[in-house]
Order: sequence, then C-alpha cells, then structure tokens
Amino acid sequence: MSTTPSRLNYRQPRHADLPAVFAVFGDPQTNLFNPAGPISSVEQAQALLDRWLDHWASDGYGWWVISRIDAPDRILGFAGIAAHDYLGKRVINLGYRFAVEAWGHGYATEAAQAALIHAFENLCLPEVFGLVRPDHEASIRVLEKIGMRRFGVLDDVPGQAPSVVFRVQRTLSISRQ
Ligand SMILES: CC(C)(COP(=O)(O)OP(=O)(O)OC[C@H]1O[C@@H](n2cnc3c(N)ncnc32)[C@H](O)[C@@H]1OP(=O)(O)O)[C@@H](O)C(=O)NCCC(=O)NCCS
Repeated sequence: MSTTPSRLNYRQPRHADLPAVFAVFGDPQTNLFNPAGPISSVEQAQALLDRWLDHWASDGYGWWVISRIDAPDRILGFAGIAAHDYLGKRVINLGYRFAVEAWGHGYATEAAQAALIHAFENLCLPEVFGLVRPDHEASIRVLEKIGMRRFGVLDDVPGQAPSVVFRVQRTLSISRQ
C-alpha cells in the first residue's frame, strides 16, 4: 500500500458528469500539448463520456472521476487506465486530465499511482503504457515519478516530433511515494 494516506476519492463516471467533462476537456489550457486541441461542443463531451461508460461496461474498469476525500462533490479532474490501439496492438493506456486550478498539488501523481496499483494488484494486468508529447515536461515528470520508463516513440502526429511511449510492467515494483 502507499506510504502516504490518499487525499483523493475515485469513482466511476456517470451521465451527470457531462458538464464537468466538458469544462475540463473543453478548456484550451488543459489541451496545450494535445495536437487535437480541446473538445469544442457538448456533443463531443458526451461522446467521450459515452466511451468511458462503454469501457466500464465492457471491461470493468476505466477513467475515474476524481475529487478530494474532504470535498467529494467538487470534481478536480479525470484519470485512469483504458484500452487503446497503438504500437500495433491493444494496449492499456494511463491517462489524466485535471482542471487547471487543481494543478501543482500532486493530484495527477497520486491518481496515476492509484491507477497503476489498481491495474497490477486488482486487475493483474501485465503492463501499462503512457503516451506523451515530447515537450510535455509536467506529464513526463508524472510518468517518471510513478515508475514508468521510456519504452519507445510513436510517430502519431503528422509533421511533428514523435510522441514518447512510457511503460511499466507488473513484474517490476511500482514506485510509491
Ligand atoms: C500534466 C498534469 C496532469 C499534471 O498535473 P499535476 O496535478 O499538476 O501534477 P503533479 O503535481 O502530480 O506533478 C507534476 C510534476 O511536474 C512538474 N512540473 C510541472 N510543470 C512542469 C514544467 N513545465 N516543466 C517541468 N516539470 C514540471 C512538477 O514540479 C511536478 O513534479 P515534482 O513533484 O517533482 O515537483 C496537469 O497539468 C494536466 O492535467 N494537464 C492537462 C492534461 C494533460 O496534459 N494530460 C496529460 C496528457 S499526456
């Protein structure tokens, strides 16, 4: 178990989370390193939320809605593991996106670490990947802090530098703060 007590509450998403999904994923500031940019309509937010709900229904895990334990109704952001197709196969990908006002408190690191513990100790998944733009220092720092290591690169943005692929395997110890 983690040596520091958790500050965060993790729960499955629900339909009522749509405004928060749109607020966080539609904010240009939270998409500075996203080549696709922010989502621009509530319909796109609904489609994203529907994908999360479908993933939960089919696989029994997925992106979490995250708040502080002492303020459970205030959504800070979203994070979790979900299946994606890249590297020519189905990989389990770690992702996170927090509201700007929640940055800088270690929440992303804490949530990402919780997602790895869930992946390895509860779901017994063999490995988890992360995909990050090469200049996204804050996100790279989060991945490194939780014990993920550079695995390779992925040329996924035409005309731009390749993204960096990180990976951690279940057989290796999870880095815990
Ligand atoms: C990236 C993101 C998740 C980080 O969230 P956070 O809660 O601030 O992260 P943490 O506080 O847990 O850790 C951030 C680390 O990056 C460091 N960091 C922050 N900005 C940095 C920068 N510009 N350059 C280098 N390091 C930076 C912090 O100092 C901290 O490291 P430390 O604990 O060693 O000091 C958050 O900014 C976010 O949600 N961004 C928008 C969505 C996004 O980009 N998601 C990732 C897509 S790959």
